[in-house]
Amino acid sequence: MALPAKRIAVMTSGGDAPGMNAAIRAVVRAAIFEGYDAFGIERGFEGLLEGAFRPLAIGDVGGVLDRGGTFLGTSRSDHFRTKNGTAEGAAMLEQNGISGLVVIGGDGSYRGALALSNLGVCTVGVPGTIDNDVAGTDQSIGFDTALNTICEAVGKVRDTASSHERTFVIEVMGRECGLLATYAGLACGADVILVPEVPWTNAEVCEAVSTGIARGKKHTIIVMAEGAGHAMKLAKEIGGLCGHEPRAVVLGHVQRGGSPSAFDRILASRMGAASVRALVAGDSGVAIGLRRSSTVVYPIVEAGCSLHQFRTEIYDLASILAK
Ligand code: F6P
Repeated sequence: MALPAKRIAVMTSGGDAPGMNAAIRAVVRAAIFEGYDAFGIERGFEGLLEGAFRPLAIGDVGGVLDRGGTFLGTSRSDHFRTKNGTAEGAAMLEQNGISGLVVIGGDGSYRGALALSNLGVCTVGVPGTIDNDVAGTDQSIGFDTALNTICEAVGKVRDTASSHERTFVIEVMGRECGLLATYAGLACGADVILVPEVPWTNAEVCEAVSTGIARGKKHTIIVMAEGAGHAMKLAKEIGGLCGHEPRAVVLGHVQRGGSPSAFDRILASRMGAASVRALVAGDSGVAIGLRRSSTVVYPIVEAGCSLHQFRTEIYDLASILAK
């Protein structure tokens, strides 16, 4: 069934991710190409509740492809998560004549999109999060750029670690998901990777550090997901155990910023356009994913309500190569 009214809206929600602007641009230009009017909703679900809609023409998304962050703004809205909040959001979309909504964000944003779709709003999710924790897609927009940012930072830390023959604990983002730490660990040749999905003890970490030093390693790099613990605390604790004093670096929000990589620009452009095609085809309650290098459309309930897949084979490979 084709969409009745000819207005497609796009919003970004949750933590921002490099490439979100490229995705907005793709949604706007693909929607106009298909003969729809395009609207942006500012500040995510908060802005939706406030009615912060703005028309977006082709020229309004010029020059944003390479910009980090999201020019529409984003938020995490507690009120929208309530039953009343979701109903108010759906009513606001109807008042503004919006027939299709694209939500760019992570798993929390997908739950919002699913709630709207359950109220009859034609909704499509596009995965935008540096965590890469959206189930059903091989990759989310922003993950590649964040990985590159981490690699650059770890390379700099390694220089000084090597000069001083030191151990560093480097904390990366990922509150509930260790994919960023795992891929960064593999890409940077980390000696130890600590993630929430794999249990570990201070004694095991200390053992790995000591074994490396005994084999002649000039430095030790421990990459730790924030969901696995705190870098400062671990550095102190293993310092006591190992008999030398590790340093801690928390990379923090640096990982969320910066111009998107070419990979993320292309992924965002493909996924943004695919979301419009899905709406035009009459799909609702679906998400766009990337599988085997192709974009796919699948039920958003599979993404918003299931746990991301931790990639054990990548973690194991990084551990083998670190020996
Ligand atoms: O979900 C993306 C993310 O960057 C997580 O990795 C991190 O734990 C969280 O957002 C940080 O959120 P905030 O910017 O609200 O501190």
